Amino acid sequence: MNNAVVWKASVLHFLEDPDSAPASDAYEYFEDGALLVVDGHVLLCGAAQDIMKDLPPGCEVRELPGRLIVPGFIDTHVHYPQLEVLAGCGVQLLDWLNQYTFPAERRFSDREYADEIAGFFLDQSLSHGTTTSLVFGTVDPTSVDAFFAAAQQRNLRMIAGKVLMDRHAPDYLLDTAEGSYEDCKALIQRWHGKDRLAYAVTPRFAPTSTPEQLQVAGRLLEEHEGLYLHTHLSENPKEIEWVQELFPSSKNYLDVYDQHGLLGPRSIFAHSIHLCDQSWERMGASGSSIAFCPGSNLFLGSGLFNLGKAKSCGIPTGLGSDVGGGTDLCLLHSMKSAYQVSQLREETISPLQAFYLATLGGARALHLSDRIGSFRPGNEADFVVLNPEATPMLRFRSGKTKTLEELLGVLMVMGDDRVIESTVIMGQEAFRRD
Ligand code: GUN
Ligand code: ZN
Repeated sequence: MNNAVVWKASVLHFLEDPDSAPASDAYEYFEDGALLVVDGHVLLCGAAQDIMKDLPPGCEVRELPGRLIVPGFIDTHVHYPQLEVLAGCGVQLLDWLNQYTFPAERRFSDREYADEIAGFFLDQSLSHGTTTSLVFGTVDPTSVDAFFAAAQQRNLRMIAGKVLMDRHAPDYLLDTAEGSYEDCKALIQRWHGKDRLAYAVTPRFAPTSTPEQLQVAGRLLEEHEGLYLHTHLSENPKEIEWVQELFPSSKNYLDVYDQHGLLGPRSIFAHSIHLCDQSWERMGASGSSIAFCPGSNLFLGSGLFNLGKAKSCGIPTGLGSDVGGGTDLCLLHSMKSAYQVSQLREETISPLQAFYLATLGGARALHLSDRIGSFRPGNEADFVVLNPEATPMLRFRSGKTKTLEELLGVLMVMGDDRVIESTVIMGQEAFRRD
């Protein structure tokens, strides 16, 4: 049995969106705090002086002076097979797919290779403080078997799926509508709901699926409880024009997915940058979520996501690294990019908002806030220990901060994976920086 451990450090977590609730309701911050974990779940989170008064018998005490504990980061959109196309410079989305991405995704029909990269991806995610991700595989089911096996071995809460793609890609990456139905069914049976894993039906984006295949996606969602739908939407102007040519009877890009029954509370649309008012409203009414991928949007020159509009439409929104369109797995960097995007839009977000998006915001977007994303009693104890003095510059700058908000600003603007001192999964240390 994984008995009781109390982690003593500063502790921060969110209970609400800090943009829509007063600070006292939005987050809890205990400068001298403690997080009591029993059997892999949060029992209590609070001021150390309260928690230490009444510890369970035999409780181990871990003292972490000067450290800040926050819930594990949640990456709501990432492609594990794209690690090897990171930093592919010089092009925007459609050329980037053809030049870099499609050739790289070919290798994932080789199980040994897929195992190696899946393990590397998850270990790197942990070392960057990310504990849950919504993940694209490739078109080959082998890529997803390898990914789920690696996630299960590490006891991680992960969501993934095989890409559906039956046109407009190289032959070696194409499936068929019927074949993809059978492949997905088999993967769902093998993995969905096993341990901490869940399956996402994953049409790559509208241009690479025939209407018949999008229908298959809708059928899978109808036939199985609790599946996710994960795809791209309105990322790049040329992509949007292409979708209009391919689906002339659709009112807009989102409508292509809507016509096939793909919207709903477990549907996550990556990017969603260039949306008309009708799409914003429909997205909100359907309960669908958005993965805001600011690092990728800046790197691929896709555009500036309108977070304020998403919020005003009540659309749950999390952060996505979108590796390899994004440049790294570090959600601290995604927070910084989100801040930069918000500055360019003249709608500056606060560091509190950025940390909310990377934790509870992501959990809400993935429909998982009853399990992860905050330290509510009973939640799974996935968290990270941050070291605000990880480098000489950070030590110097964080030493001058006077408020929590200032410290969070320093961590997101100046921080990187060196700030992640350890990552804890279900109460067990899964990564420690030496
Ligand atoms: N749209 C379709 N496929 C992709 C992909 O792999 N990455 C990004 N960023 N956008 C896409
Ligand atoms: Zn993507």
